Amino acid sequence: MYYPDEVIEEVRARNDIVDVISGYVKLQRKGGRYFGLCPFHSEKTGSFSVSQDKQMYYCFGCGAGGNVFSFVMEYENFTFPEAVKMLADRAGMALPEQEYSAEARRQKDLKDRVRELNRMAAGYYHRMLRTPQGERGLAYLKGRGLSDETIRHFGLGFASQYSNSLYQYLRGKGVSEELLKESGLMQVSEKQGMYDKFWNRVMFPILDVNNKVIGFGGRVMGDGKPKYLNSPETVVFDKSRNLYGLNFARTSKKRYMLVCEGYMDVISMHQAGFTNSVASLGTALTSQHAMLLKRYTDEVILTYDSDDAGVRAALRAIPMFREVGIATRVLHMEPYKDPDEFIKALGTEAFQERIDQAENSFLFEVSVLQRSYDMKDPDGKTRFFQAAAAKIAEFELEIERENYIEAVAEKYHTSFEGLRRMVANVLMQGVPTRKAPVRQRQARPEKEDGIRQSQRLLLTWITEYPGLFDTIARYIPPEDFSDELYRGVASMVYEQRRNGAVNPAQIISHFTEPEQQRAVAQLFNTEVRVENPRELEKAVRETIYKVADYAIAAKSRALDPTDMKGLQELVDAKRRLPEIRRLHISL
Ligand code: CTP
Ligand code: MN
Repeated sequence: MYYPDEVIEEVRARNDIVDVISGYVKLQRKGGRYFGLCPFHSEKTGSFSVSQDKQMYYCFGCGAGGNVFSFVMEYENFTFPEAVKMLADRAGMALPEQEYSAEARRQKDLKDRVRELNRMAAGYYHRMLRTPQGERGLAYLKGRGLSDETIRHFGLGFASQYSNSLYQYLRGKGVSEELLKESGLMQVSEKQGMYDKFWNRVMFPILDVNNKVIGFGGRVMGDGKPKYLNSPETVVFDKSRNLYGLNFARTSKKRYMLVCEGYMDVISMHQAGFTNSVASLGTALTSQHAMLLKRYTDEVILTYDSDDAGVRAALRAIPMFREVGIATRVLHMEPYKDPDEFIKALGTEAFQERIDQAENSFLFEVSVLQRSYDMKDPDGKTRFFQAAAAKIAEFELEIERENYIEAVAEKYHTSFEGLRRMVANVLMQGVPTRKAPVRQRQARPEKEDGIRQSQRLLLTWITEYPGLFDTIARYIPPEDFSDELYRGVASMVYEQRRNGAVNPAQIISHFTEPEQQRAVAQLFNTEVRVENPRELEKAVRETIYKVADYAIAAKSRALDPTDMKGLQELVDAKRRLPEIRRLHISL
């Protein structure tokens, strides 16, 4: 960080969060909080809340949250220092000089420097398109139907046929070889030393949700191999946590997202007005991608290629989305291969029609299943319905099963009653075949999620009801919190509380990555639904008990069997557990 902590804290304290956010979002006071429509996801009822006491914001819908710095970073796409600068200006505060010194620059954190380097490279590639050398690249992109505006919007570019032009350019700007190595933009060989990774390709810069360039994809202009070359993973480029186009798609006001396979598909769709489309980065979709999307939407329409690989990819993606609570539908692209080709051939309206007709993902799974049975043969047909019944039986709710029995019976022309009896038979035979292992795998994370939720509650309560601190601290030391982030925040909270009041917004300033700020904001904004203070008191007791009990269990699992002192401590702690249930809690 460039500025001393005191300076950061002064800038923060001089910018009241309600004042600042009111400049962007219309806020209404409700009790101790202010509410408004969340600027970070599309919604009709306001789940975005700002607390003046805590000087924090938190969205109960999408989980966006943080202090005044995080808000400005997220809203304006600023880096942390940029946000500090803007808010200092706003408060009429002069920042200390050393910010501009060479020393401070050297300390600038590696991620920022790599992102800055990527930005320079993207600018270089982009400008190259308008030079005589880049003519071929521009012609290629135009030949694929992209407008000047689209090329500019996505910052597309060109890497020349010389294998060291970017290297020369960046070295000329004073960039060290060491930093170049970190960027993934270069290759090194013993013979040639360092040279460009990308040459003679059109370039697709990859931006994160904060509009920072984190990597590149490069395509050959023709049939060469490999068709696409991508940046390797670097300190800023994690392919499983980023999606191409999400920086734009996140602000689209559509309630669903379109997920496709390729860069060109995203670009074509955006150009055609489908600005809610994203693609993974030359890798298969991961559950992290699903979780990332869950922050912005509850529904995904898969617009994967119509070939076998696309179908397989869809079958893999659907359960991942289901797991995070995203409903999926599948768009049929036939007779075209991918969205780019489809839109070019049939246009925007036809594509919108296909979106409207996209198939329920379960029925899609059943239709894929059906392909492996011979429906002309009576036995084959029976076996297919048996398999479909087994799948339907996996649904937990009777009403869901009924709905799918009806849909499948109608689609494949069989009787509702017949299929219903088959499903009933499967259920009678006991555990549905496929769901059991899935459940088992889920058991542990669910429990851990529950504990983390309880730990968050404790930190929120300590902040909101200072009187609870002593009781909570007596049974739960900071080391009992689950992971590094939670433990770190807990020790800061405990320390602040011992010296006075908890200052959540200041704690958030210790974290400069938006992901972490979000997680910390969540720690201070966890709530339980209770009807009255009495119930809340009960919830406090139960939560302390649960967290303490879990910590004891975790410690005893990790205990070295020869550690007698440790064992004794655990026994004592366990003996004290029942006290918790009798605690007198008063808010
Ligand atoms: N991809 C890759 N490396 C390859 C081929 C593909 O990383 N050698 C990734 C790219 O992200 C690409 C996506 O997989 O965008 C889909 O590949 P494909 O369907 O082959 O390409 P399209 O996106 O259709 O590209 P184009 O229309 O330019 O052929
Ligand atoms: Mn294509």
